[in-house]
Amino acid sequence: MLKRLMAIPLLLSATALAQPLEVLHWWTSAGEHAAADILRQQLTHAQVEWQDYAVPGGGGDSAMAVLKARVIAGQHPGAAQIIGPNIRLWARLGYLQPLDDWSTAWPGERYATLETLTHADGVRTAVPVSIHRINWMWLNPALFQQYNLPLPTSWSQVFQAAEVFQAAGIVPLAHGAQAWQTATLFETLLLSVGGPEFYRAYFVDLDPNALHDVRVAEALSLLRRLKGIMDPQNQNREWQEASQMVINGDAAMQIMGDWVKGEFTAQHKLPGKDYLCMPVPGTAQNHLYSADTFVFFRSNKADTQRAQAAFAHTVLDEETQRRFSLAKGTIPARADIKLEGFDDCSQTSAHVFREAEQAGLLAPSMAHSMATSPGVESAIFDTLHRFFRDDSIPIEITQLRLAQILSALSDHE
Ligand code: BGC
Repeated sequence: MLKRLMAIPLLLSATALAQPLEVLHWWTSAGEHAAADILRQQLTHAQVEWQDYAVPGGGGDSAMAVLKARVIAGQHPGAAQIIGPNIRLWARLGYLQPLDDWSTAWPGERYATLETLTHADGVRTAVPVSIHRINWMWLNPALFQQYNLPLPTSWSQVFQAAEVFQAAGIVPLAHGAQAWQTATLFETLLLSVGGPEFYRAYFVDLDPNALHDVRVAEALSLLRRLKGIMDPQNQNREWQEASQMVINGDAAMQIMGDWVKGEFTAQHKLPGKDYLCMPVPGTAQNHLYSADTFVFFRSNKADTQRAQAAFAHTVLDEETQRRFSLAKGTIPARADIKLEGFDDCSQTSAHVFREAEQAGLLAPSMAHSMATSPGVESAIFDTLHRFFRDDSIPIEITQLRLAQILSALSDHE
């Protein structure tokens, strides 16, 4: 009894001290929500109260539009999920809190790639959370077994299996034809067809030879062929609805980043049993990545700054890193964290990430804001979306349009 009585004032004081911090992000699916909730829980230990400002919409386009509107109205949040080179734009506009003073106390080691991503003009401006691998294919193993089909490691095996599934009334490839999902698929195909050097020449170096290379046409043509093994009801389908089709056995495969694994984990599904992760054909040694990061909006309030500093520190805490990544499907942003207890998909992702980073062959995701600027990204989305929806648009015209965007817009941003 005495113990219980003593516990109450302690709890009250912890709650009374908690400093609210509004966090804008786009983690709204079941798996994403479970992962965000881990951050929220961990922050309570640091007396920070996570005030949720979630903007639905995979890939974060809507979240970024809302963030801009809020900042214009003078109502910026305390923390926001901003990722990729976009961080630099926000920092240059003077909105973001520099983190160099706080980061001296941050625990652990970080990958060189994340160090680059989280610095803007030499100043540390963001805290990394975790790393996604995008070039994954998610499979329903029971369906492959039932129809006695090999697990596909080549595109021809994918199309052979698709024929059997289609005849049986099963959707071979689940897809949500939102612009960002189609762009995610396209960049994966470009990596598959061209390899990481070519991918980087195209999306990072904007090499004119790469922009006009025949491999771009091959990737576009593969995108059209894959459309033929999707169901026509895919317009505006959310990515997690497509994942659900795979887990329900209504569809056999989905190509998407490993946030899909977070979705399956939230339903207590197990890799190797209820679903399989396989690299997209031709990309087993490659890592098409996106890394989630948070930034903090400048504030002159000491309480807010304290909460922001505690937030950054908590994100990098070992327990937070592990629990978050297990729920989200990612690998930790901290390079020193051992992956015991993580499944094979994550182990593979970590291994391939390290190897590719060392070889200078990581492929930064264009569709998930790692490679270009927001203006370039939305123009590419628009072009690919039209191409995907309208079969009469010629491949050559689309390739030319993409080349124009990448070369012309990039000069100006
Ligand atoms: C983010 C992931 C998120 C995914 C789908 C990506 O851009 O990096 O954290 O789960 O979009 O919303």
